[in-house]
Amino acid sequence: MCGIVAYVGPKDAAPILLEGLQRLEYRGYDSAGLAVVNAKGLKTRKVKGRVADLAAAVPARFKGTVGIGHTRWATHGAPSDVNAHPHLDHEGRIAVVHNGIIENADELRRRLEADGVVFQSETDTETLAHLIALMAKEAESLEEAVRKALAGVVGTYGIAVVDAQRPGEIVVARNGSPIVLGIGEKEMFVASDVAALIRYTRQVVHLEDGELAVLTADGFHTFTSDARETAKEPFTVDWDAGHYDNGGYEHYLLKEISEQPDTVARTLRGRIDDRFHIAHLGGLNMDARETRSFRRVKIIGCGSAYYSGQIGAQLIEELARMPADAEPASEFRYRGPVVEPDTLYVTISQSGETYDTLAAVQELKRKGGRVLGIVNTVGSAIARETDGGIYLHAGPEVSVASTKAFTSTAVAFALLALHLGRVRDLSPADGRRVCEGLRRLPEQIKEILTLEEQIRELAIKYADAPGMMFVGRVRGYPVAREGAQKLKEISYVHAEAYPASELKHGPLALISPELPTVAVVPDDELLDKNLTTLGEIRARHGRILMVGHRTSEAADDCVVVPKNENELDPILLTIPLQLFAYHAAVALGRDVDKPRNLAKSVTVE
Ligand code: AGP
Repeated sequence: MCGIVAYVGPKDAAPILLEGLQRLEYRGYDSAGLAVVNAKGLKTRKVKGRVADLAAAVPARFKGTVGIGHTRWATHGAPSDVNAHPHLDHEGRIAVVHNGIIENADELRRRLEADGVVFQSETDTETLAHLIALMAKEAESLEEAVRKALAGVVGTYGIAVVDAQRPGEIVVARNGSPIVLGIGEKEMFVASDVAALIRYTRQVVHLEDGELAVLTADGFHTFTSDARETAKEPFTVDWDAGHYDNGGYEHYLLKEISEQPDTVARTLRGRIDDRFHIAHLGGLNMDARETRSFRRVKIIGCGSAYYSGQIGAQLIEELARMPADAEPASEFRYRGPVVEPDTLYVTISQSGETYDTLAAVQELKRKGGRVLGIVNTVGSAIARETDGGIYLHAGPEVSVASTKAFTSTAVAFALLALHLGRVRDLSPADGRRVCEGLRRLPEQIKEILTLEEQIRELAIKYADAPGMMFVGRVRGYPVAREGAQKLKEISYVHAEAYPASELKHGPLALISPELPTVAVVPDDELLDKNLTTLGEIRARHGRILMVGHRTSEAADDCVVVPKNENELDPILLTIPLQLFAYHAAVALGRDVDKPRNLAKSVTVE
């Protein structure tokens, strides 16, 4: 997804902007550009392609101590040099970089064209450059010009603006797309993601929707859209630049899969109480009385976050005996949901910036819902807008495909289910059983990681299949969905997940030697039913890779993982499927960390 960086200070801006843009590459993009301001005016360079191509196009004498940069993920107009940001007004005075979508761009464009403005690009963003330039003619400050221009804009934006006639400042604004200010020594940074700032400063300020900021080398001021000054407290990011290194691994994805013994341990740290067999989750901001007042749980997230929410719903139903279900955030907010006071809403987001999930949080809050967030990125929009929640502490996830955040989210749900259960009917003995199971997870994940070579060989064996079916029953079904999601997003092999119980109701027709099945088969009360399903697939000459706790003659290949408590097994069963997808993608020569058409945080609709 698009990325923004900006700098104002004593140094040359271009190298800092290029470094920041490189740090944002993991989010996905198709073109990149930057603009710097000096006493002679604005200079820009924009290219379709990689940040490295942009760096090659920037001449040595590209001087200016104020600048803005951008990685673009095309929405309005194809990826091209011209459509890349920054966009300038026709006099070359104002330059703008923008994340988000201007919904009334067509109408604004028609009005501006009627006034004689000639557009260079097909983008919605260019309207902003012309509008701000128009306002700047009358305004006393760039901030005033931006504020007045935005008053007529409908849509979402995170923007950074520079003015050739005011070379010492940057104005930024946020409405639905993240903007973070980084505070340095006599210098200020801006980014849409802390990853781009972290090398220079860990002191940051997040803008809220409807807020603007003016930055100079000496500091910053923040305002509301109606020009009232706001007071912002900087906070210190606890991730450092080292967290963004690939740690010597060939891909971030493999690094992040391999980190899971540690990341799961971090999610658990300090949260298990061995005396009362409960979970300490102070961040929920709820006392026991309020916790008991909820009758059901609704879980909301997108993509893999939604699948981890399905594991969460199952855990809550089993341990807390409360009705719980998960739903894609993108669907939830548009179907006019009935928001009930006795429902606990739990939203999930690794990035904390996913637009659909954030919009669902806002809709829930408008309707009086009690909303928690299970979030990895500290200080992100969803973390700020929810009433409380659980931080994953998994460290930054760089690869587009989510792995360690998925398992940590499932672990966070196990803690939440334990918490909800122990203030209701869950017995101390069952609480103890779950606590002990949770403590075993990091060591068991280490054991699973030792199976990597076996899984790599299996991935090579199956990678040439035109498609794969993933099946699982009840606890195994969300695991199958996540396995299929990982495979399709990074290897581009078509993968479809079905409840094993549903095969006979349609998809069994697809089974043939050409369509292998990955079957998630835990040793639980549904084992026999699952083995019967494998028999049915075999009878149709389907090849089977079984992932479970034992081998079976019904399967062609088996990956056997350590057994934990039935409720916690889905967390462990996910990990072989991550390795399978990773090695299939490598075998097929895919761009593992930056799969085509995808972005790390989906900050637009
Ligand atoms: C996961 O592999 C995907 N890239 C994607 O489904 C992701 O989980 C989803 O976009 C939600 O992201 P979030 O957790 O940052 O909200």
